[in-house]
Amino acid sequence: MRAKITATGAYLPEKVLTNFDLEKMVDTSDEWIRQRTGIEVRHIAEDEPTSALAAKAADDILKSSPLNASDVELIIVATVTPDQPLPATALFVQQNIGADNAFAFDINAACSGFIYALSVADAYIRAGMVKNAIVIGAETLSKITDWTDRSTCVIFGDGAAGVLLEATAEDRGILSIVLHSDGRYTDLMKVPAPGSREPCSEEAIRNRDIYIKMKGNETFKMAVRNIASVSKEALDIAGMDFSDVDWMISHQANKRIIDSVAKRVGLEDGRAIITIDKHGNTAAASIPLALDWAYKAGKIREGDIVLLNSFGASLTWSASVVRW
Ligand code: UT7
Repeated sequence: MRAKITATGAYLPEKVLTNFDLEKMVDTSDEWIRQRTGIEVRHIAEDEPTSALAAKAADDILKSSPLNASDVELIIVATVTPDQPLPATALFVQQNIGADNAFAFDINAACSGFIYALSVADAYIRAGMVKNAIVIGAETLSKITDWTDRSTCVIFGDGAAGVLLEATAEDRGILSIVLHSDGRYTDLMKVPAPGSREPCSEEAIRNRDIYIKMKGNETFKMAVRNIASVSKEALDIAGMDFSDVDWMISHQANKRIIDSVAKRVGLEDGRAIITIDKHGNTAAASIPLALDWAYKAGKIREGDIVLLNSFGASLTWSASVVRW
């Protein structure tokens, strides 16, 4: 028994923030942002919490499936920007779409969240615990972005996307998944407060500890190396090589990271999907956003081998091989 992706869906909030808008907010330029990151625009959620974005992505997924919301058995939302500490964002999604027969929970693995969530749903399906699952990556990073810090605020964006996984006896779907984390690097990228380590306080707000802090340069260097190696691990398990890959869909953190990985593994001929220009770094949402875009653009076809890979705070990295 395998889990196969039978539908994809996405949602981006209406408001668009361009690089030129950012020029008016911090000391930056459209040229710097394009050259150093590949980003042109990002979307910003105004009155919508993360669950609203995720629910719209779920609606979009179900639009292209014969299943109804009441048929859905499991909902997993990967996010670092939950609606609130309690309850899980996935429960608001469940309520919002009317998936009354599902059970739902969140996963936090930062930018690797989507592949981590996929691995859980895949395991539940292969174990026969559920026949289907909606897996969504959803973020409103604009809420934890320090809009006075040019080294981070030009990068992030909001959005949600995901897939419907269904049990199949066919030799297709998720062929392998490899997950890694390393807790020695929790300082590379973090939002220090509020939490049990640093509860909500005026001091936390004054110190801007409620916003993302990132050592971008160090993260960049580790990303390229680790994405390439975890991808090889996932391909080895599937009995494949980089030459078998039709499409590589990476976490969209920085176009230069994706280009470097593609060059390192011999996929620099257009097989690496790039959507960061359209939505910036949306953490857990970025892989399913790119997947949805590539599928609906007619690039990914039945039988194609799709390599998903990610790198995120702090540190998590992962890869999965999917036969479409
Ligand atoms: O999502 C998963 C985890 N995150 C990542 O994978 C992010 C990985 N890192 C990156 O994408 C890049 O490191 C950044 C895009 C964050 C930064 O790009 P960089 O090429 O590594 O820049 P840098 O930090 O080395 O800074 C180079 C220069 C500095 O100026 P000086 O010291 O050379 O004069 C920065 O102050 O660029 C300056 N700079 C900027 N200039 C204009 C930093 N941010 C900006 C900016 N606009 N927005």
